[in-house]
Amino acid sequence: MTTEEIINTKNEAIAQILKARSTSEVEELRIVYLGRNGKLTQLIKRLKELPSDKRKQVGILINEAKINLTGLLSSQKNRLSETVKQWFDPTIPGKKPKPGHLHLITQAISEISRTFEQIGFSRVRYPEVEWDWFAFGGLNMPKDHPARDEWETFFVEGPNHPKFGQMVLTPHTSSGQLREMQRVKTPPIRMINIAKCYRRQIDASHIPMFHQFEGLVIDKEISIVYLKGTLDFFAKNFFGDKRKTRLRPFHFQFTEPSFEVDITCGVCNGSGCKLCKGGWLELGGAGMVHPTVLKNGGLNPDIYSGFAFGWGVERTYMMKSGLSIPDIRLLYSSDLRFLKQF
Ligand code: FA5
Repeated sequence: MTTEEIINTKNEAIAQILKARSTSEVEELRIVYLGRNGKLTQLIKRLKELPSDKRKQVGILINEAKINLTGLLSSQKNRLSETVKQWFDPTIPGKKPKPGHLHLITQAISEISRTFEQIGFSRVRYPEVEWDWFAFGGLNMPKDHPARDEWETFFVEGPNHPKFGQMVLTPHTSSGQLREMQRVKTPPIRMINIAKCYRRQIDASHIPMFHQFEGLVIDKEISIVYLKGTLDFFAKNFFGDKRKTRLRPFHFQFTEPSFEVDITCGVCNGSGCKLCKGGWLELGGAGMVHPTVLKNGGLNPDIYSGFAFGWGVERTYMMKSGLSIPDIRLLYSSDLRFLKQF
């Protein structure tokens, strides 16, 4: 009997035990190697054939092999019986992932459309990559208007349209005004256009991608009174009964007269505080549709008149009573600690 014989038997046993796939296979291997007539047991029995000077050294080697194999057999048996315990039953119904919820701006958009739908507005959407004419030219904005500056607007590289000019990412939803006039052709029009807008701006109150909602009402004999009534209806329904609006003279190229719309501050209720300075918060622009814009939309300004307004969804939502969001960028930070609150 040589030491190689012992080492080979041990290695062969280790390889077989590691390959075993069940506890009964392990038990069979125990008998093959360590049973009464097992391969290692046979070697132990042959120890006495050796001369006494070699017997001790070989004896130690066989004993070590026996201890190793016994340990490996028992750990392999344990591992395989654990695997049986963890057996996967594919018929057990799976764990359902916790449902999330709509992003607060998606919620705001639904609330805004529902509010206007109550007074007969229909929600529409128009292209967010648009020709210059719909975003600027057709809205009476001259070629050198600052909004057309590279620093304000994202221009898209591509071939120019022969009539409508360059392509831009819509900087406001007012581009939908002309599209709606062209689509409806014969008023009445009561549109609420809610879409993404893009401008090259970023700070605590500006983001490069935001949403606006644009109202457009065109019919015979539409006056500022209808505009004020619509704004008051929205303010009371969206912000609460006590909130009031006011129109402040302003200038837009596509409305005449034009206004900035303010709403009483939800924190001090109009008496003046740190947040609002003077009791009012600015909501966005509005005005009576300019006759040139009506003409560009294919309508006769001697027959039809209308009003329009366009506000930021994010800023409007941030003005809701009880909300105190210090930085508009938080809305799109994907921070669940913030988003889960809404
Ligand atoms: C306009 O965009 C006009 N088209 C509004 C209008 C429509 C006037 C119809 C008259 C008739 P202005 O640039 O002020 O106006 O933007 C309107 C609102 O969009 C702002 O009050 C603000 O709430 C929101 N807004 C503008 N830029 C950003 C920005 N970078 N990030 C977030 N909100 C913005």
